Amino acid sequence: MLREVLQYLEPYDPGLFPPDLAERYGIPVGRVVNLGSNESPYPPPKAVLEAVSQALRGANRYPDPSYPWLKEGLARYTGLPAECISVGGGANELLDTVSKVALNPYDKVVIPVPSYSIYLFLAMLRDASLELVSGRGKDFDLDLGRVLEASKGAKLVFLCTPNNPTGRAIPRKDILAILEDTEVLVAVDEAYCEFSGKSMAGEVENHENLVVVRTMSKFFGLAGLRVGYALASPKLAGALERARLPFNVSTAGEAAALAALDHLGHYRRLRARILKERERVRRAVAGMGLHVVPSEANFLLIELPEGMDSELLAGEGVVVRDAGGVLGLTNNYIRATVGRKRENERLLSALRACLERR
Ligand SMILES: Cc1ncc(COP(=O)(O)O)c(C=O)c1O
Repeated sequence: MLREVLQYLEPYDPGLFPPDLAERYGIPVGRVVNLGSNESPYPPPKAVLEAVSQALRGANRYPDPSYPWLKEGLARYTGLPAECISVGGGANELLDTVSKVALNPYDKVVIPVPSYSIYLFLAMLRDASLELVSGRGKDFDLDLGRVLEASKGAKLVFLCTPNNPTGRAIPRKDILAILEDTEVLVAVDEAYCEFSGKSMAGEVENHENLVVVRTMSKFFGLAGLRVGYALASPKLAGALERARLPFNVSTAGEAAALAALDHLGHYRRLRARILKERERVRRAVAGMGLHVVPSEANFLLIELPEGMDSELLAGEGVVVRDAGGVLGLTNNYIRATVGRKRENERLLSALRACLERR
């Protein structure tokens, strides 16, 4: 009755959540520091909360399914016309819609690793054939030569920049080379682009085989409201709009996104704090003698000594993401989100305590 591929798929593993630590280690939830999911540590500003509250008064009605206001807001933010924009319930849904419009069974999908695990899941769900390309060196940078080679004859390549979990940005010239030297559809996941200040959005009108996927979950801190968008040529964005489900962004999500887009100054100030903290944490971790990958995002990939893993930090009440589910990484890697100063201090002292106990 069910498709065969479902035997091989596990539900997405988001890692530990604070209540898991409470249960496992008896640490009160309020004492747990959550640096596991690359979220913003800052709750939405008042204007966003008020916009959501106002929108909820009309929650008995469906939203306009073509989302003209949301697209207008995103058009102003990205500098692209609304016809180049498709919207969805988070970047994950857009990545799924891209797979939906692009992939037939057995089509080849190229995934550089380590990277965001959803790409593998989505490709498997479409019965695609997979080619994983390992990154180069200690920081797992994109191996352009091998990705170019693998992309010949492939249907879709997922590129994540800055890459989750390494935080490394893919050089623009490498993405252009893949766009120009192959016919593959290039899905560039820019979930963290506001932290790197680098984007391929300006190229979507020049390249019909480019789709840029973005989210309101990270820089704009709206992970719980599920809003994402894709930028592509009018032809490709139109296909995404036709293939997505109607009403896939909630009224509350749309209102929050619009209000957030009206308060860019606020989010830029928060970003400045996060970037400053990121560098402080990076230096402190490097000072402990650990390798920490130079990041252009709001998280850091840290290589722990062999035998150490995220569970030791969990025992100290600090949630980080372990490398367990990430292809191409061994278990002694952890990914830590940059939080508020006091949260980062808890991470650093937990790391020190674990290293001393070794
Ligand atoms: C690289 C990357 N893309 C997409 C997403 C999903 O974003 P959204 O919350 O918009 O579905 C994440 C979330 O962690 C991510 O790391």
